Amino acid sequence: MPSPQPARGLLWLGVVLGPVCAALESAAPSISATDALNVLLIVVDDLRPSLGCYGDKLVRSPNIDQLASHSLLFQNAFAQQAVCAPSRVSFLTGRRPDTTRLYDFNSYWRVHAGNFSTIPQYFKENGYVTMSVGKVFHPGISSNHSDDSPYSWSFPPYHPSTEKYENTKTCRGPDGELHANLLCPVDVVDVPEGTLPDIQSTEQAIQLLGKMRTSASPFFLAVGYHKPHIPFRYPKEFQKLYPLENITLAPDPQVPDGLPPVAYNPWMDIRQREDVQALNISVPYGPIPVDFQRKIRQSYFASVSYLDTQVGHLLNALDDLQLANNTIIAFISDHGWALGEHGEWAKYSNFDVATRVPLMFYVPGKTASLPEAGEKLFPYCSPFDSVSELMEPGRQSEDLVELVSLFPTLAGLAGLQVPPRCPVASFHVELCREGQNLLKHFRLPDSEEDPYFLDNPRELIAYSQYPRPADSPQWNSDKPSLKDIKIMGYSIRTIDYRYTVWVGFDPHEYLANFSDIHAGELYFVDSDPLQDHNVYNDSQGGRLSQSLMP
Ligand SMILES: *[C@@H]1O[C@H](CO)[C@@H](O)[C@H](O)[C@H]1NC(C)=O
Ligand SMILES: *[C@@H]1O[C@H](CO)[C@@H](O)[C@H](O)[C@H]1NC(C)=O
Ligand SMILES: *[C@@H]1O[C@H](CO)[C@@H](O)[C@H](O)[C@H]1NC(C)=O
Ligand SMILES: *[C@@H]1O[C@H](CO)[C@@H](O)[C@H](O)[C@H]1NC(C)=O
Ligand SMILES: *[C@@H]1O[C@H](CO)[C@@H](O)[C@H](O)[C@H]1NC(C)=O
Ligand SMILES: *[C@@H]1O[C@H](CO)[C@@H](O)[C@H](O)[C@H]1NC(C)=O
Ligand SMILES: *[C@@H]1O[C@H](CO)[C@@H](O)[C@H](O)[C@H]1NC(C)=O
Repeated sequence: MPSPQPARGLLWLGVVLGPVCAALESAAPSISATDALNVLLIVVDDLRPSLGCYGDKLVRSPNIDQLASHSLLFQNAFAQQAVCAPSRVSFLTGRRPDTTRLYDFNSYWRVHAGNFSTIPQYFKENGYVTMSVGKVFHPGISSNHSDDSPYSWSFPPYHPSTEKYENTKTCRGPDGELHANLLCPVDVVDVPEGTLPDIQSTEQAIQLLGKMRTSASPFFLAVGYHKPHIPFRYPKEFQKLYPLENITLAPDPQVPDGLPPVAYNPWMDIRQREDVQALNISVPYGPIPVDFQRKIRQSYFASVSYLDTQVGHLLNALDDLQLANNTIIAFISDHGWALGEHGEWAKYSNFDVATRVPLMFYVPGKTASLPEAGEKLFPYCSPFDSVSELMEPGRQSEDLVELVSLFPTLAGLAGLQVPPRCPVASFHVELCREGQNLLKHFRLPDSEEDPYFLDNPRELIAYSQYPRPADSPQWNSDKPSLKDIKIMGYSIRTIDYRYTVWVGFDPHEYLANFSDIHAGELYFVDSDPLQDHNVYNDSQGGRLSQSLMP
């Protein structure tokens, strides 16, 4: 039976994390008008599991690690498509991209695919006050320029006013001038409005928590952070955590020999930034000069630590407001980001570095014991404090899980009815779910038995997919528009291997042709964890293909 494996917590040994964070604080009386559990959903943009709690020895993420220590953490969680809008619409509706029919940024599922319910909509319909802060839905057409309001949210979503400066010239270069750079450590007092989007989102979220404390209804608050998405615009003091001489390159910075060209994506977006443009890097394969590779990695990690402090302030406030004992916390990212692995600097692929995400759930009284009056579960931890204390790992599961499971799992954890499984074509069904309910992994006494739950962890599969406009990398291979899609890479990840077939795809009929195989990839996790040695040809992989697809 699949279950969290405490032994794997050993992965954590030797991972030294932040100090004992601030001490216990005294409690004010709490006003809890209801037994229903609140939900705080934290969605991070482009965060791969480069975190202490995932075994990263360099990255300082004491607040997220502290959350993990009280949570059930999934070591093998995967996004369904490694790009923002398709991934977000997928997990927020609980449907795969082939059902939302969103592979790009250019359609709104309610009119383009089906009028599917979303997670916040479902909570709202069940008596919750639902609120969105920052980037939860991808803005623009894919959420009807309204973050799916009014369906998903009780109030108009909040967006930080400084969001609009993200891509403008606010990065001071070595020449003393302001540029639209990729690497953008800033002095916060000097930037427009003297603040940054994620700082504003944290402040707004804390205000909303304060208001909800006395609310008669339970709340569902989604907080979407922008970092570590590019550009790496973060308070410059975080750079000090990562001296360049301590930054290593990706262990596999070359484009692998046996990689089919269709699987490669040319990371066009970072090339548009002024500092990268100045490097005159060859398209599509690069490489980026080694010293600049180190700087990109440094700024990504610094952005993660900055993000971690925002999560820390948010959770600390939740605790101060006496809400930690009746609020479920889910922490996820929309997908990962390649930091030079396979010669790539982006998402937009089916590699683990692009599809694997952090995923953890804190459930009061279940994944951690209820805080005693006056006890704090989430005191703020500074990533700048000297590394001293070994943080206890929480519960962990190695089972393969998918972001489409978020919908049924959150519903189940909150005690709402879990939406039924979708029929095979479900465009006409407003409320159903394509992902598994993960409740069983929590081993709660009241776990619903999911008849689809496979008892053999070797049989658990996470599906991802990525579209391409051509067999070789070209200007729009990262983000093809629907009409330009000619090939779809369908990928399955099991505990043992990743297997991908790139097949013909008709964007008018949304049909994949599994007889029309353009290329294949097969990597074994044990012998090739980084996915550099494609053994598809040796394995007659083609035979495996169709039977394993969803
Ligand atoms: C879509 O769903 C929403 C929310 O349930 C509902 O208000 C709306 O009428 C539906 N639209 C259509 C076209 O069915
Ligand atoms: C999308 O937004 C437009 C403009 O606000 C609105 O008229 C339209 O009804 C919205 N679509 C849906 C399905 O609600
Ligand atoms: C950098 O690496 C050195 C040598 O391993 C180590 O002593 C030092 O603490 C590291 N600095 C930081 C900020 O991690
Ligand atoms: C696999 O076979 C295909 C078709 O024969 C060939 O084009 C490709 O280069 C081979 N790949 C590897 C890694 O050998
Ligand atoms: C950029 O690189 C190309 C070849 O990769 C070279 O021909 C060209 O002169 C370079 N331009 C500059 C401004 O360095
Ligand atoms: C949460 O903690 C507060 C303050 O200690 C207490 O009054 C309240 O009953 C607790 N709620 C739950 C669900 O335990
Ligand atoms: C699927 O691909 C095969 C092989 O290229 C081709 O013969 C067949 O016509 C295609 N089917 C459709 C429906 O396009």
